[in-house]
Amino acid sequence: MRLFEKVTAGRQTLKNSIAMAPMTRSRANSEGVVNDLTVLYYTQRVSAGLIITEGINISEQALGSPWTPGIYTPEQIDAWKKVTSAVHDKGGLIYAQLWHTGRVGHSVDRNGKLPVAPSAIAIKGQHFSSQGMKDYETPHELTMPEIRQIVRDYGQAAKNAIDAGFDGVELHAAFGYLPNQFLCESANQRTDEYGGSIENRNRFVLEVIQELVNAAGSDKVGIKLSPTNAYNNIENSDPVAQFKTLIEALNQMPLAYIHLMNAMFPLDKFPHYPKDVMGTFGPISKHLVIANAGYNKETGEAELEKGIAGMISYGALFLANPDLPRRFELNAGLNEPDRATMFGGGEKGYTDYPFLRD
Ligand SMILES: Cc1cc2nc3c(=O)[nH]c(=O)nc-3n(C[C@H](O)[C@H](O)[C@H](O)COP(=O)(O)O)c2cc1C
Repeated sequence: MRLFEKVTAGRQTLKNSIAMAPMTRSRANSEGVVNDLTVLYYTQRVSAGLIITEGINISEQALGSPWTPGIYTPEQIDAWKKVTSAVHDKGGLIYAQLWHTGRVGHSVDRNGKLPVAPSAIAIKGQHFSSQGMKDYETPHELTMPEIRQIVRDYGQAAKNAIDAGFDGVELHAAFGYLPNQFLCESANQRTDEYGGSIENRNRFVLEVIQELVNAAGSDKVGIKLSPTNAYNNIENSDPVAQFKTLIEALNQMPLAYIHLMNAMFPLDKFPHYPKDVMGTFGPISKHLVIANAGYNKETGEAELEKGIAGMISYGALFLANPDLPRRFELNAGLNEPDRATMFGGGEKGYTDYPFLRD
């Protein structure tokens, strides 16, 4: 089966075509430092061809949700070293997902500071904060010097990730967080060089990717994109043109992969959005395509057979099944993911999902 075949990402050979998708678990301490349970959680899942970590805040400003980890203080970096060395000892490969939440966050969890965004446009609805549900605030519109600083922060975070032993980094440019906000008209109404046209809306992401390549090295950078997810009030008048142009520009850069998400929500309100994300955007990429969202063993295998994606990433199924590749191989039953323990807490729903018995 294709899922169990080796695949090349950049210059690295991955032992199978099954990736663990990035998943926030909100189990770091209030200083953004991960712990021994995090080491156990990732080493349990080391049979993945590639582990992509939960979103990791690149700076204090990047933080949107409580108890999410960072990679900008010495304590945070040291804690990640324990994760990467344990994963490597067991023969795994692990990328750090770099995260800046932009306007998705609340000042109660940001030392009283407003979230930041390309434009001062609030998300409609409420945010889950450490003090319960709160209306989204109107974010601070980033100035040009502030944008340049964020690009540098990404570069520093990538350097820190390599110092911490990660095999590479993934830019989280999906699901309505800061890079995705720059890409989309509903969050970006700027009239300077970062907004107003497809090329200008792409500029921030391309500058960040270049900075990550400079910091982490060629073939050690991936990017996650969700061209048709309206989550966090992300909307585009022409997502095909926007993301096609972006992927063409990314083709010019030495990346390890492009991680593409299918739509996770109904597209009834967006009749102009393409229904087939992989078929529309995948063939444009000259890099390895990792397909994500909604796959099981059969549909993942069928996706690989189409020849567009070279790898499938599994989120909820990997969360609940530490030995997912083995279960696929043996056609064994799967543990069900428990929604109640996805975010926050201790080992329950984190490191206590059972392995198959030998
Ligand atoms: C608990 C949980 C946390 C998540 N956190 C992140 C995250 O930090 N970064 C990210 O890019 N996606 C995140 N996602 C989305 C997953 O990476 C993936 O795109 C999604 O679960 C769809 O894949 P699946 O159908 O295989 O679960 C999260 C998903 C879950 C279930």
